[in-house]
Parts: sequence; structure tokens; C-alpha cells
Amino acid sequence: MDRVLIFDTTLRDGEQACGCSMTATEKLRLAALLAELGVDHLEAGFPIASEGDFEAVSRIARDIRGPVITALARAKTLDIERAAKALSAAKRSRIHTFIATSPVHRQHKLKLTQEQVLDAAVEAVRHARRFSDDVEFSAEDATRTEPDFLCSVARAVVEAGAGTVNIPDTVGYATPEDFSALIAQVVAAVGDRAVVSVHCHNDLGLATANSLAGVRAGARQVECTLNGIGERAGNAALEEVVMALRTRQDAYGLETAIQGPGLYPASQALVECISFGPQPNKAIVGRNAFAHEAGIHQDGFLKERTTYEIMDPKDVGVPESRLILGKHSGRHALKIRAGHLGQTLEGAALERAYQAFIALADRQKGVSDDEILRIAQGAALATA
Ligand code: KIV
Ligand code: ZN
Repeated sequence: MDRVLIFDTTLRDGEQACGCSMTATEKLRLAALLAELGVDHLEAGFPIASEGDFEAVSRIARDIRGPVITALARAKTLDIERAAKALSAAKRSRIHTFIATSPVHRQHKLKLTQEQVLDAAVEAVRHARRFSDDVEFSAEDATRTEPDFLCSVARAVVEAGAGTVNIPDTVGYATPEDFSALIAQVVAAVGDRAVVSVHCHNDLGLATANSLAGVRAGARQVECTLNGIGERAGNAALEEVVMALRTRQDAYGLETAIQGPGLYPASQALVECISFGPQPNKAIVGRNAFAHEAGIHQDGFLKERTTYEIMDPKDVGVPESRLILGKHSGRHALKIRAGHLGQTLEGAALERAYQAFIALADRQKGVSDDEILRIAQGAALATA
């Protein structure tokens, strides 16, 4: 398959993060945007968790068309039945059931043996298949699970009817090298009987790198969130995974169905629903992702955009690149900005304005357009 399926979990794993809980109405609004963006799968919530989440999943299942609407359920009968009920109005739906497989979770959290975990996983998938033809199984904390046991679980759940086997790096512990080796093992174990999926957390800042390493090893579904929100340090950021695959098509040779120009508007819509925005230097959607301050960069950018930009901001829905005028900026950018503000600067006037601008920029964090205009007008008058 030369396509990577994008499984968005902004409304489930993303919502689980501090400061990210959303109302059913907010979730519905974001779900409509995610559908327009072209996500293949939309995880709408965890219906057993609360009445509100049940309602949100039900409304999304009823109103949103396009993506496969997914609901999360622990490997428990009641969870699965609640998920199935919430999804009942969907045109295309998936039940996503999970149980932890790692020794630390088995021993301390579940108090179950390997055999009991495997049986619970198989029983959950069988039960979910009574309600849906499309069932995904996740082995929580897969990256700290004995690889041979993980592969046995993967084979068993596929045998029981799971069409997708998800390998979460639940605690963000993996490195790209070991994650890629693990995914290759799981892909070999399930063959072409199921899609192998990756779900990476960002505790070491490696979520996107690990997701891409998984894709290289044969995973064909990536679970991710807008702005990378999610438990603790977050999940792999949808916009990063998509734009890495697109920008480095030469390296991956794989496509997604995401409409790039929808990325920034969707990111901004999410910000309106939660309590924080992306960090300014966040890849793709951060305020500074297409901003240049250093004079050498500004000069190169003004001569040819691709000297310092590997993506066109318009391709991700950012209206335009920005030249920030600060103490590292040069004459070229100052001249252009003054021109945009209505003051032509040439020769001695430009030099005079530049010296005044640098002196001011050295004393403060940035220089505003009003200050630039004042400096430019003063320099033009003084050299007239
Ligand atoms: O991180 C995780 O393990 C999860 C699973 C429920 C898929 O979010
Ligand atoms: Zn997760």
C-alpha cells in the first residue's frame, strides 16, 4: 500500500491532556474540520468515560460523514457495548479496544498473567466483532512488552477478527531504531491479514520520528493529533507526520489523503477550544514556523524563498511568511518593510535608518511597524 492512513485522535487522546477537555459542541465542530481535512479515521472519544463523551461520540457518529468514526473501549464487555451504542448512527464505524501487555502493567495495574491478558484481548476483539466488522486492537505499552509476546497477541487478535493492530509507545520510551525493529517484527507476524498502526507519545520529543520509523518498517496507519496534544507531552503531531511524508516524498514514497491547506485553520480552531496554543516555534503551525529574523536568512529568503523554506506556507494554510525585524535583521528587510509602510529608503537614507533601527533593536525585544515608520521617515527627512 503506498498510502498511509491518518487516524486522528485529537478528540480522544488529545482531549485526555490537561487543559484540553471539550464540550460535545466543540468536538462536533472540530470533527467537521477534521473530516474536511481528509483524516481517514476519527477517534471521537471514550464513551464509557462520561455521559458527555457518550453524547459527543453519538453526535459525531450521527452528523459526520467521510472518516470512519471510532470509539475507544477497554477490553471489557460494558465498555465495548457502550462504544457500539454510541457509534450506532455512524455510516462507517470502528470499535477500538485495548489492554496493556507490558510486564509492568500486567503486574502492577492489571494483576494478570500473559495468558490472561492474551485471552482478554481475544475475547474483547470477538465481542467487538459482534457489533462491527471494523475492529482495532491496541496493545497498551507495547514498546515495553516482550516482543515475542507482543507478536503472539498480535497474531491472536487478528485471528479473532481485528483488522488493525495498533502498537502504542504509550509512555514515549522508544527510539526510532528500536521502534522500527519492533514494527518490522509485528508486520512480519501479521502479514497482510491486518494493517499495522503506530501511536507514539512524545515524552522524549521523539513521537514524530518514531511514527515515521514505524512507517518505514511497514506500518500503514499513524495515530496522531492536531498540534500534537495528548497525554503528558502529547502524541505525534498530525501536521508534522503529514508534512514530513509530503515534503520528503523522495525518502518515503508514501501519501496521505490530508488536504494540506486545512492544517493551519484546523490547528487554530483547536486552539479556540482548549486552553493553550502551540509553542511559537512548533513545526508547521507555530507562530514562528514561517518567520525569519536573521539578516542573512531574510536576504536569502527575499532573493529566493526556498533558500530558507522547505515548505510553502500556503501549502499548510499559513497565509504568508513573515520577516521579523529585530537586532539580527539586515538592510534588505528594513528597506522592504519601510516600503510596505509607505516610506521608500535608498542610499544614505537607508543607511541612516538602518543604524537607528539597529540601535533601537539592541535595546528591546523587537521593533514595531510604528517605530520602523518613524525611523524611516526621520532618516528620509534628514538626508533629503
Ligand atoms: O497511548 C496509548 O497506549 C493509548 C491507547 C489507548 C491506544 O492511547
Ligand atoms: Zn495514547
